[in-house]
Amino acid sequence: MSNDPLVVFTPSGKRGRFPVGTPVLTAARQLGVDLDSVCGGRGICSKCQITPGYGEFSKHGVTVHADALSAWNAVEARYDEKRGLKPGRRLGCQAQILRDVVIDVPPESQVHKQVVRKAASARVIEMDPATKLYFVEVEEPDMHEPTGDMERLARALRREWDIPEIRADLSLLAKLQPVLRKGRFQVTVALHRDHAGDPAQVLEIWPGLHEGGLYGLAIDLGSTTIAAHLTDLETGEVKASSGIMNPQIRFGEDLMSRVSYAMMNPGGNKEMTAAVRDAINTLAAEIAKEAAIDAALIVETVIVCNPVMHHLLLGIDPVELGQAPFALALSSSLALDARQLDLAAINPRARVYILPCVAGHVGADCAAVALSEEPGKSEDLVLIIDVGTNAEILLGDKSRVLACSSPTGPAFEGAQISSGQRAAPGAIEAIRIDPVTKEPRFRVIGCELWSDEAGFAEATEASGITGICGSGIIEAVAELRMAGLLDESGLLGSAEATGTARMIPEGRTHAYLIHDGSATGGPVITVTQGDIRAIQLAKSALYAGARLLMDERGVDNVDRVVLAGAFGAHISPLHAMVLGMIPDVPLERVTSAGNAAGTGARIALCNVAARREIERVVGEITKVETAIEPRFQEHFVAANAIPHKTDPFAELAKIVTLPSPNFNTHGDGSDGGRRKRRRG
Ligand code: FES
Repeated sequence: MSNDPLVVFTPSGKRGRFPVGTPVLTAARQLGVDLDSVCGGRGICSKCQITPGYGEFSKHGVTVHADALSAWNAVEARYDEKRGLKPGRRLGCQAQILRDVVIDVPPESQVHKQVVRKAASARVIEMDPATKLYFVEVEEPDMHEPTGDMERLARALRREWDIPEIRADLSLLAKLQPVLRKGRFQVTVALHRDHAGDPAQVLEIWPGLHEGGLYGLAIDLGSTTIAAHLTDLETGEVKASSGIMNPQIRFGEDLMSRVSYAMMNPGGNKEMTAAVRDAINTLAAEIAKEAAIDAALIVETVIVCNPVMHHLLLGIDPVELGQAPFALALSSSLALDARQLDLAAINPRARVYILPCVAGHVGADCAAVALSEEPGKSEDLVLIIDVGTNAEILLGDKSRVLACSSPTGPAFEGAQISSGQRAAPGAIEAIRIDPVTKEPRFRVIGCELWSDEAGFAEATEASGITGICGSGIIEAVAELRMAGLLDESGLLGSAEATGTARMIPEGRTHAYLIHDGSATGGPVITVTQGDIRAIQLAKSALYAGARLLMDERGVDNVDRVVLAGAFGAHISPLHAMVLGMIPDVPLERVTSAGNAAGTGARIALCNVAARREIERVVGEITKVETAIEPRFQEHFVAANAIPHKTDPFAELAKIVTLPSPNFNTHGDGSDGGRRKRRRG
């Protein structure tokens, strides 16, 4: 056995013997220990901080003496003076190994740090983004050995970081020489290395050590809203999240009406492309401003979206997606320059990655949900529903995963609802109706109090009570059903039939009055028969999609349900089940995954290997097309009743007894409401 000192790294447990005088960073690299470094050991980036342990480590069979490492040197002293090193910390590139030692690598010094998601399923994201920072010292030009600055930069990256090949576009080349000279030939580059093994691309270059960070955007491009998470590419931390309405709404509320707009209006698709690109630019600029970050530091973007949004974003006419066989122009993933999508608000050389689409109606957003929720790794049979204007539905377990999309329309997002609005302060998000008095109490976004609690009026004075958002309307319809004000077929009763003056006549139908703010100039908030019909259409489409996948799988029950989507986290499982949005399972088996598509985008942003994984997973998903499947229509009609015409909902019956009034005074179920199926 050699007499060289033994080094044990924690938490990895990796160990080895190294000659006296070896820097800790060198030992870490040779053992494959995850210890960060941007400056390559020059003592300027401070990424390599470690904590040596002293004393007896019986577990490792090591006793560490006070002189196990070289003494604190001038570089560390200078860093400590300028920035401050935490007590007990050393710079791994400066501290040399003199005797046996145990070295702890704190999480912030690990390159592949693990970021724990906040959502219920605690999947960790391992940080390994496609774009990282590298500090290099480039040789100065020499008349006797003429080479270009770019070639010498490439040589330095090869020598210091083992990067075999680089490329850069013209706009980068144009700034290379001044930056190199300004940094006295010491520069930091942001280098993009994709999972396809293409040459690394220099996206940005700064003189000296760049300490301003590096950022990426994870974008969930929905038909109704566009949401973005600005993410620190070094730590994985979300610096800001923001969303805006998709301006394409003015061309059509749902997907198919946008496809029709493109079909009917020459150049219509181009208008929609320009609108969505514009909106993404606005969102990117706003979110960078909110986080007080220079938008030019955003060098990566990952976008997830449904197929129609996908084509419109890319400038591809979506006309083929409007008719069978719903052919996509391209279903594979896509890696682009931000400039190709006119994304001028971020770094001009930023890279964009778009997840693969699953099928003509099942988009990259569904792929992102699969990446985030991993149904293909589930032991039990899980149904994942991403509730949006178009619901993405996945059913599966370890053996097989099926997917479809279902045209729910925008009702769940508060659109097409008489008092509907998007989730914003002042919107009713939760409601309870007393089954005896039929009186409502509710909560609005921005206030924790219920409307019958003291202080509610004062607390909501600023926001007002402005309307009902998606989760609010789901609860309202379910509560109306539980309170006996709404019958199984979806008809609201009259004041006489229900015994409450809150049922007010509206033409030939009735509406339930939740809140009358007219005395103070506020809105009158009701749930109308038209609202009920809109929700029935949406929930029937959702349920029918889920049932279709269950048929395909040959089951009548699933083991658990995961609700995802921008407002999935806010949907009450009980109310969703009373409504019959989701199949009957024990209530505790319904969980929320929050915005799983957005999370999937964030995973692909933070971990380049996840891109390869989702490309593989998507290839293995069985696609089920709802539009041409006759059973979809049958399931849709049966699901129109609340909760359901034929499915027993036995689990629900264990916890709720639903009243069974019948408000059909015509004897034929007619009510002037619409009963048509919609796609998109
Ligand atoms: Fe940069 Fe140690 S590696 S300071």
